[in-house]
Amino acid sequence: MRIGFFDSGVGGISVLHEALKQLPGENYIYYADSDHVPYGTKSKEEVKQFVFKAVEIMAEEGIKALVVACNTATSIAINDLRQQYRFPILGMEPAVKPAVEKNCSKRILVTATPLTLREEKYQNLVSRLGHAYLVDGIALPELVEYAEKFIFDPKEIRPYLQTKLSGYDLTQYGTVVLGCTHFQFYRDGFTELFPKDTDIIDGSTGTINYLRKTLAERKMANQEGQGQICFYSSGKKIDQDQRYRDYLRYLDASMSISELNMQ
Ligand code: DGL
Repeated sequence: MRIGFFDSGVGGISVLHEALKQLPGENYIYYADSDHVPYGTKSKEEVKQFVFKAVEIMAEEGIKALVVACNTATSIAINDLRQQYRFPILGMEPAVKPAVEKNCSKRILVTATPLTLREEKYQNLVSRLGHAYLVDGIALPELVEYAEKFIFDPKEIRPYLQTKLSGYDLTQYGTVVLGCTHFQFYRDGFTELFPKDTDIIDGSTGTINYLRKTLAERKMANQEGQGQICFYSSGKKIDQDQRYRDYLRYLDASMSISELNMQ
């Protein structure tokens, strides 16, 4: 059986990319809710409805585990999803915890969608760590739109980030957390703007490490798959999936993964 990856759009492809590296022997369904992206500027109730519909379709297709590769959907729906389905469901949350563990003296900047930052799950995460005074949050919803349009040209992205960050003293941050999976495409843009010693981190590796562990513990791992991916867009299976594969290719530094996903 396949592993399901879900996001409002193309952001979760960055997490799938990590899964292809760590778990090349699995097969995958990638579901983008393209009719409803972006989630981050919508209401909680709306997003919850979209997420449930998408997961229902994925469950009908048959998945053995689900990665909600979307921080926004995780904060809204993960607990309720776990109550409804029996397969393991892994979510994503802004990597504040690893940021705090890594760096205790300098401030942490969490970049995410407006909905993620507003949600109780994030608020609790920050206050539970007892480091609320060290953590600032900034919503960058336009980056989601840029990613959906495959706009990665630094000439467009740089001025946007510069404007959004203009009120911040960037030297005070030891870590920048990419708390939205769409933002992982812009890692270089962040690296360029912050001082050299600033860590730019995301939750992908941690999530996929946890997925690997979960599959092994439940004896659900597959070594015989070929990293095949079947793409869905808001309920419809995509046959012309070049657009999605272009995102994988954009992230790909390694030939072996490119080749794997060219088939
Ligand atoms: N990729 C998503 C996240 O990680 C949501 C982006 C959006 O739809 O606004 O939060």
